[in-house]
Amino acid sequence: MADYMIAPSILSADFARLGEEVDNVLKSGTDIVHFDVMDNHYVPNLTIGPLVCEALRKHGVTAPIDVHLMVKPVDRIVPDFAAAGATYITFHPEASDHVDRTLQLIKAEGCKAGLVFNPATPLDYLKYVIDKVDMVLLMSVNPGFGGQSFIPSAMDKLREARKLIDASGRDIRLEIDGGVKVDNIREIAAAGADTFVSGSGIFGKGQDSDPNRYDSIVKQM
Ligand code: DX5
Ligand code: ZN
Repeated sequence: MADYMIAPSILSADFARLGEEVDNVLKSGTDIVHFDVMDNHYVPNLTIGPLVCEALRKHGVTAPIDVHLMVKPVDRIVPDFAAAGATYITFHPEASDHVDRTLQLIKAEGCKAGLVFNPATPLDYLKYVIDKVDMVLLMSVNPGFGGQSFIPSAMDKLREARKLIDASGRDIRLEIDGGVKVDNIREIAAAGADTFVSGSGIFGKGQDSDPNRYDSIVKQM
């Protein structure tokens, strides 16, 4: 039985009240903060960097922070995120010139390392570096934006990734990212995922300051 983790993507949080939003969503029973880093180069959107990660730590967030790098190049920013308190650092193999080296760098910086696979990227890389991987993140949307629909081919890919992970005998999390909602999360879990990113499926919009505002949605997951 997998120990499931819900990873709220703060991309859909109210950034003007980020600390409070993260406190509330963790209090509602989520496990790990998904932190989307976009550079307007590897993906056509621009978000947040190490300063914001550090600010969350200073604010008192002790939960694991799952930094999803959608940046190119990758290596230059890794030490900054490690210093800022990242727990996991995942990156897209297409964005690194030397995937094995980047994995080694993340681990040398004291973080857990992961590879992210876009919807059309085959899992082939994994085979050669699985001994250095702590997380496999499958994108079920094209990276860059929250609020997109789940791409169904991710289901077969989850089953394929689950087999590779189980065959490795290593403790590797299988995370899914994009279009995950209350109504499809069970099917996704059955396909092999154990860590579920959800942005627009959890965070509401607007200025509702009720600290329990995410309780009902998280409890259904
Ligand atoms: C997309 C990001 C996702 C995104 C998910 O590039 O990696 O983490 O925030 O958002 P939803 O859950 O709304 O699809
Ligand atoms: Zn993400």
